[in-house]
Order: sequence, then structure tokens, then C-alpha cells
Amino acid sequence: MRVLVSGAAGSLGRVITVGLLENGHDVVGLDLVPAPEGTPFAWHEADCADPDAVAAVFAEERLDAVVHLAGAPEELSLPDELTSHVVTTAALLDAMVAHRVPRIVYASSNHAVGRTPRADGELTERALPRPDTYYGVAKVAAEALLRLFADRHGIDAVSCRIGSFLEEPTSVRGLSTWLSHGDGVRMVEAALTAPAPGFAVLYGISANTRGWWDLEPGRRLGYEPLDDAEDFADRVGAGPDDEAEAEHVGGPFALARFHRPALG
Ligand SMILES: NC(=O)c1ccc[n+]([C@@H]2O[C@H](COP(=O)([O-])OP(=O)(O)OC[C@H]3O[C@@H](n4cnc5c(N)ncnc54)[C@H](O)[C@@H]3O)[C@@H](O)[C@H]2O)c1
Repeated sequence: MRVLVSGAAGSLGRVITVGLLENGHDVVGLDLVPAPEGTPFAWHEADCADPDAVAAVFAEERLDAVVHLAGAPEELSLPDELTSHVVTTAALLDAMVAHRVPRIVYASSNHAVGRTPRADGELTERALPRPDTYYGVAKVAAEALLRLFADRHGIDAVSCRIGSFLEEPTSVRGLSTWLSHGDGVRMVEAALTAPAPGFAVLYGISANTRGWWDLEPGRRLGYEPLDDAEDFADRVGAGPDDEAEAEHVGGPFALARFHRPALG
């Protein structure tokens, strides 16, 4: 497959592009920043929130799929979040329809359902939208847009609600929410190649002993995680917010220190 990876210079992008190349795909990178030195694949320095810039990339490249990783992984104002996650997704989807690119894999987030109480039990793909931040609101809206384009245009859209993508878990929460680099690649590969998923949601975490997010939606698409954060448990120290962070899916983002005006 020839795959456009947006946000290719980011922490996910750097790992996923290498994994896709190793799996035999052709990769085309897109990012606000220039290609890192030695990048062995095509690269477009462009703003994914600019529809003309995105259209120009699609006009130049023949593509089979998009992996959309561009976006700020932090809490900003609501307008900035909407631009970063919803407008970028819209620009890609419009270009996909225009150029008949049939599949998108989206880096959504657990923060789309981050205010779901831990006490509710296992987190399934049927959890209602329950964002913990404006970041989470934007992820909910981006998922809604993916679903609309799946229904209207038959695009296959797999929304991966990622936990904590790190080389290794660094907090007690991370022992439940960790997504290893290897499992991140396995997740994207499955989401790219699952036969006819339509619109689908999966939870992007490893097979963590302490995980409580349902892995079945991912397994149905062929995502079989192999790593377990528990292997690192003896290296993870306790933190002052561990108990508070355990109360909601979104951990720290659900805490009062993130309360702020939407337009501030
Ligand atoms: N890292 C995680 O644990 C995690 C967890 C859940 C979801 N996610 C989501 O995964 C995606 C990638 O996260 P990350 O951790 O790699 O972030 P990152 O900040 O490391 O990388 C994001 C990349 O996207 C690029 N980018 C941002 N806005 C862009 C735009 N408008 N046009 C083109 N490029 C743009 C940046 O230059 C950067 O290279 C984000 O959407 C984030 O919300 C990440």
C-alpha cells in the first residue's frame, strides 16, 4: 500500500513510518516541519489544516490510504483544538473523496471518553462520548466526522483511541494505558488492512495486565497486542496523583487543574 502519514515527524509518526516501511508499504510523509535528515521516503512540508495544501499533496501522490497522526497531543483552547484535530481531518477526508482514497486510520484518544469513571467497569467501544478536555472534545468531533464520511462516501475509517504511546510506561496510570512502539505498529497495520471495517473504533493499548479497556474491538480487526506494561512495573515509582488519576479513563486530563475557559 502507498500510505500518506500525516504528522510523520512526531513521536508516533517516527515509529509508525519505520514500521510501515518494514512491513513493505510505501510511505509518503506530511508534516509542518521538514523531513528529518536521511528520511528514505517522499515528504511534503504542509499544514494539514490548509485544504489547498492537502489537495496539492493528493494531486501529486497516488495513495491507497491515510494514517492521520498530525495534531497537537495536548490541551489548547477549543478553537485551536478544533483546527488541530477536526479541520485537519476534514481536509484529508475531502481530498480522499476527491481522489477515491478508500481508507483512513486515525490517531484518536482515550480522552474522547476520558471522563468515563473507572467505576463503570470495562471500557468498551460503545462508551458514549465523554471528553475530559477540549482536546477530548475535538477527538469526539473528529470521530463524528470520520463516521459521517464513512456513511456518506463508504470510506473505511478506523479510529484508534490511543492510551499512552511511549517506549516504556512511566507512571502507575501508564501500567494500564501503555501502548508500546511495537504494538502501535501492529495496531496501525491491522487498521490499514482489516477487510471492510467501515467506521470502527478500537482501544490503542498493549495487552497490559492492569488494562481495563476492551481489546476485543481491536482483535476483531486483527490487532493482537503482544506487549505488557507489567514487565516494567518494578521501574515505575508511585506519584502523588496516582489515586486521583485512577478515577477516570483520562487520568490527569480529568483533574481540576485542566479546567479553563474554552476560548481562553
Ligand atoms: N502520544 C500519545 O500517547 C497519544 C495518545 C493519544 C492520542 N495521540 C494522538 O496521536 C497523534 C500524534 O501524537 P504525537 O504524540 O505523535 O504528537 P507529536 O506532537 O509528537 O507529533 C505530532 C506531529 O504532527 C505535526 N503536526 C501538528 N499539526 C500539524 C498540521 N496542522 N499539519 C501538519 N503537521 C502537523 C507536528 O509537527 C508533529 O510532527 C495526535 O493526534 C495525538 O492527539 C497521541
